[in-house]
Amino acid sequence: MKTILKVWTLLLISSFVLISCGENDKKKEPEKIKIKTHKKVESKKIDKKNKIIVDLNNKGIGPVTSITFEPTINTSLAAKGEKLYKVKCSACHKPTKKFIGPAPTGVLKRRSPEWVMNMILNPEEMIIKDPIAKQLLIDYNGSPMENQNLTEQEARSILEYFRTLK
Ligand code: HEC
Repeated sequence: MKTILKVWTLLLISSFVLISCGENDKKKEPEKIKIKTHKKVESKKIDKKNKIIVDLNNKGIGPVTSITFEPTINTSLAAKGEKLYKVKCSACHKPTKKFIGPAPTGVLKRRSPEWVMNMILNPEEMIIKDPIAKQLLIDYNGSPMENQNLTEQEARSILEYFRTLK
């Protein structure tokens, strides 16, 4: 009889332990869900990884709405642009390497020509309103692209120079 009682008490204790373990598991679950949603909020990392946004349809915000390239590069215009670029832009841009700003090499593979023109002529508004320029400002640690007060024709010559940087 004593042994049967012992077995019963053992069974009782172990079932209590099992039940309370089960309850613990249930209690833990909401925490797990919280952690998951927390991670989702932090998903900005994904944006940081995609540092190079490619969008050839976005024309940007500013005076330039339409640019048509001649099939061949206008070399004299590009040479003018290269000179201007060295004076006005090379403080922050190196042609092929990331510097204070991005390297313009291949820029026309990731941006429309209109977007590039508007970024040169209207950077103040672009970095506030344009989604690509806004992201670039974050990627480049908040240092803003500066307006060099170029005329549209001067900006166009730099754009032609950028066509030579593939
Ligand atoms: C004071 C530094 C500075 C100067 C000077 C400057 N830029 Fe920038 N530029 C930047 C920064 C920084 C960015 C990245 C966007 C941002 O942080 O605002 C940028 C972005 C750009 C972009 C976009 C590049 C891309 O990959 O999308 C172009 C195009 C550009 N600049 C062209 C020029 C041209 C052309 C000049 C000269 C007329 C010039 N910049 C002068 C700092 C500068």
